[in-house]
Amino acid sequence: MWFLSIGLSCFGAVLGQIFYFRPQPVLVSQPFLQALEEIIPGPGKNAQFKTSDTRFWRFMNPGNFNIKEHVAITIMASTASSSALAISIFATQDLYYNVRPNAAVGIFSLIGSQLIGYSAAGIMRSFLVYPTFAVYPQLMPMAQLFDALHRGKEAVMQKKRLKFFWSIFVAIFVWEWFPEYIAPTLTGISIFCLANQKSAWFTRIFGGAAGNEGLGAFSICLDWAYVGSGAGSIGALFTPLSTQLSLYAGSAVCMIAFCACYAMNTWKAQNFPFLSQLLYFENGTEYDQLSILNPDFTLNEEKLAVQGLPWYAASQLLFKVSRTMYIGAAIMHFFLWNFKTILNIVLDFRIGKCNDPHYQKMKVYKDISNWWYLAIFVGTTAMAMATIYTSGSGLPWWGLFAALAFAWMFIPIIGTLYATVGYAPNIEILVQMLGGALIPGKPVANMYFTLYGYNPVVQSLSLLRDLKLGQYTKLPPRVTFCVQTIGTIIGALLNFVIMKTVLNSQREILLGVQGTNVWSGQQVQSYNSAAIAWGALAKPLYATGTRYGFVPYMLIAGLGFPIPFWLLHRKYPKFGFNYVFTPILVAELGVFSAGINSSLFAMFLLTIYSQYYLRKYHATWFRKYNFLLSAALDGGTAVMVFVYTFAVGGGSGKVVPFPTWALNPNGNPDYCKRLT
Ligand SMILES: *[C@@H]1O[C@H](CO)[C@@H](O)[C@H](O)[C@H]1NC(C)=O
Repeated sequence: MWFLSIGLSCFGAVLGQIFYFRPQPVLVSQPFLQALEEIIPGPGKNAQFKTSDTRFWRFMNPGNFNIKEHVAITIMASTASSSALAISIFATQDLYYNVRPNAAVGIFSLIGSQLIGYSAAGIMRSFLVYPTFAVYPQLMPMAQLFDALHRGKEAVMQKKRLKFFWSIFVAIFVWEWFPEYIAPTLTGISIFCLANQKSAWFTRIFGGAAGNEGLGAFSICLDWAYVGSGAGSIGALFTPLSTQLSLYAGSAVCMIAFCACYAMNTWKAQNFPFLSQLLYFENGTEYDQLSILNPDFTLNEEKLAVQGLPWYAASQLLFKVSRTMYIGAAIMHFFLWNFKTILNIVLDFRIGKCNDPHYQKMKVYKDISNWWYLAIFVGTTAMAMATIYTSGSGLPWWGLFAALAFAWMFIPIIGTLYATVGYAPNIEILVQMLGGALIPGKPVANMYFTLYGYNPVVQSLSLLRDLKLGQYTKLPPRVTFCVQTIGTIIGALLNFVIMKTVLNSQREILLGVQGTNVWSGQQVQSYNSAAIAWGALAKPLYATGTRYGFVPYMLIAGLGFPIPFWLLHRKYPKFGFNYVFTPILVAELGVFSAGINSSLFAMFLLTIYSQYYLRKYHATWFRKYNFLLSAALDGGTAVMVFVYTFAVGGGSGKVVPFPTWALNPNGNPDYCKRLT
């Protein structure tokens, strides 16, 4: 358990951080990690190791590889493999403020901010983990896979499945070298751009093979790094059809809205690039944020009056609007469709004690004492308190407590959503708003406020989910807690190292609008723009009556959005309005605002083929292989990107470009006209 989990945690953490700096964020897929552990040889598992290396392997692992070890490894590795939020802050400070907190401050901020949410999760576990209503639907396929892998190992079926996994894994590993390196045109084959290589509108609508190029309508993407579940948490192969259709409907509206705004020059859209995460002067020059700040990075009103307020690209503004609406839509959707059930559950919960059958069985294990969680809270708060002062954040001590109070308030609300419908709205923008209102004029302080007001919510949800996975698979709670904490710490350390390496070697590219097909600073840029806009300029930019003053009201519009669908469903129950998942529909209104967009059409076709055709007409195959197929494709792609990044992609300093040829042209890989 220790050997595999630490090894995989390191692999996942490095990979997760590299992916953060890619044109389209790719997440390290959990099913892949899960399948990978099954495939790495262990003692009582593969006969050849039993005979040749007996003593070594017996020392490494004295017993059979069982489901509990397997779950523990998965939890540690997947915890380590997401990029920590604090990394966005350090990268922003480094790239845009020329401030570099020293390694000790950086690492303690990381560990503090990543662990601080676990205390809240621990305190709320008797409500959000133990009872039966806290289902965590996204754990179901995982629990099933664990079960399938550890039952009847010797069966012929099992061998066939492993062979299937490996064939797909190797095939995609080899294939990915083409779209990623040798022939980038395969990332987005656009018939339209091939036919007309001179039209700017063709680039905007049909281009999408390069970062921030265009909307990628109807372009055929043959790169699994973008088509796979990496493109977001929604995988074409395993997300239910109805959810995905809401997603595609939202995407279509997004395309229309982006083009309409640009064509009608709303918000001066034509002065700025079509897709960009940066802030601009009205004349289209990149906004110089240091020119409106004092040396201590607080807002200087006089300088602002000289320079003028910054502008967003219209697409980026629409993205903000969709993100704001979606918080409201998620909460209202939840209340409309699930409120009665939840209310009953809460009432039941209050009178009776927990008689969840899984929980009853877990009683043989010692639970974690609340003192542990309290200790975590005290320790991490001390770390946070020390580092907000030593890192020059400008966040006062009361700001830290206010942020934590917000987080604590949101955790039960969002936790209930997550536990019951498996969907947790991202409240980052709401916390940024609150921070801007409480601590105006300080962009860096706003980033730290968001770090402590939003990140604990994410982290506590992940601990709650993993404790529940532990309850399903009967992993002792102390083990779950322990592997999760260690995974977090390993992740934080490696995130920091990789961030430093990438910033040093790819600085120029990360600062540019379009980046390359391997590296892109779009996540940092977007983070930085938000911090300036909310942190420094909340009042002049977002207060009622100002230029973007309508954005906060979108929260209320979002609250109203699910209501018509609900009413329509009550009136016409046969039309399937209950299948419209309004939060996703709204969230997708901004989906094309950044990155490589060519993958959507291919995802759509794949969804129809897999979730509709295969599921309906080849149900047996679908049940046995679909999830495994997704895991193998994600896995082969992840390993390829890892090797590629360090071999020729510049992860270790030097980029070795592939020579240009027909499928690796200068300019945009899909032959659309280059606009930036
Ligand atoms: C745009 O405006 C800014 C601020 O007024 C100025 O510094 C910059 O030089 C201008 N750029 C161009 C291309 O005129």
